Amino acid sequence: MLGLAGTMPGAHDPTSTTAPMTPPPPPEAPNPAVSVITPTFNEADNLPLLVDRLHRALDGITHEIIVADDDSPDRTWEVAERLAVEDPTIQVMRRFHDKGLSASVLDGMSIARGDALAVIDADLQHDEKVLPGMVERVLADDADVVVGSRSTVGGGYGEWAASRRLVSWVATLIARLLLRVPVSDPMSGYFVVSRRAYERTAPDINPQGFKILLEFVGRDRTLRVEEVGYEFANRVHGETKLNRSVIRSYLLGVAELRLGRQVDPAFLLYVLVGIVALTINSGAFAFAEAVGFPEVTTGLNEELDPIATSFLFSLQLSIVVAFVLNNEFTFWEQRYRGWKLAPAFVVYEAMTLVGTGVHIAVFTFLQESGFLLTYLGGATRLVHNLMGAVVALIINWYLNTTYLWRRRLR
Ligand code: GDD
Ligand code: MN
Repeated sequence: MLGLAGTMPGAHDPTSTTAPMTPPPPPEAPNPAVSVITPTFNEADNLPLLVDRLHRALDGITHEIIVADDDSPDRTWEVAERLAVEDPTIQVMRRFHDKGLSASVLDGMSIARGDALAVIDADLQHDEKVLPGMVERVLADDADVVVGSRSTVGGGYGEWAASRRLVSWVATLIARLLLRVPVSDPMSGYFVVSRRAYERTAPDINPQGFKILLEFVGRDRTLRVEEVGYEFANRVHGETKLNRSVIRSYLLGVAELRLGRQVDPAFLLYVLVGIVALTINSGAFAFAEAVGFPEVTTGLNEELDPIATSFLFSLQLSIVVAFVLNNEFTFWEQRYRGWKLAPAFVVYEAMTLVGTGVHIAVFTFLQESGFLLTYLGGATRLVHNLMGAVVALIINWYLNTTYLWRRRLR
């Protein structure tokens, strides 16, 4: 340990009323072997315990601890600054802008001086006892990145609710299948990266969301990655910040890593919702037909009577589902809440019906003109229908994003 505080016993009185400030490291202080970056948001109760455990675990390895706090309402930054008065190995960043987990970690890394950069949650869920082993492997240049994994030998998820396990399992599967990353726990927020790898990869990283590890191993395929198992502990103080927006931004992040920044990832979510809605539409239609929904005659329009209620039922159901999914997921940042949901839904319904009209019109036109008939024969109807669907989808996307969920350009 650097032990500078020990040379001046009593020099810093923790009860002193002067504003606690993080002392800048003296210029002659040698760089530590490892910088431990911990992102914090409302971890005032956990931080002192974490610092204590880190010092204990890393005894014998020179280290600094960087607390990257997003101006926590519970004043975690103040707790950190108070610790730093007595402990020169601690640096505190009280962040006011570009908040977020990944952004905080990257900011912490940018002031780190170690040869190895470690990232660990402040809530004591990551087992610090495996950290020295992870650090050693990076320092020995056995790997560029060492990941603390819950899914490998010696790892475990602790007491997780089934729903949370499922979410994590699906997210992991998506990352592994789509990105083919060589990591069993790509969502892990616990890892060590070498300074060299950090400096090479960091400029390309998208600092949004929770998926900081995935940004490293998903962007730079040349990184040598290794894993160390650890058991995910239960949170004792404070609460998790993982929510739906995190899951959404994770999916967007995976899409961006896969497709680059040319395709708007929100459009992919939109298409995904469209596919889900279509599946539900077909399922509900089959169900209504099987149950035998009645046909009704209105007497208003001879040409359309009788009305197939199974058709209307499945159409309406799929529109509701698509609206909810798009509102809660695709356009989360612009979502409607409370009473505003009602007018928003009416507008959405109208736009969807415009799209459906266009779909039918395109299909009818192509059918009547015999377009593609000579090439496709029997499959012509299917392809014409698909072309109608694609045109409708694009028109709906345009209407939705222009008038309903207006988006600021990134
Ligand atoms: N600075 C900052 N800003 N820190 C944050 C923010 C933020 O917006 N959100 C969360 N944190 C900090 C928390 O204070 C904690 O130290 C750490 O990041 C992890 O946040 P949790 O809210 O405890 O996440 P979790 O335990 O539910 O999530 C776990 O699983 C995720 C995915 O599987 C963690 O291991 C994550 O690191 C992991 O990505
Ligand atoms: Mn946690």
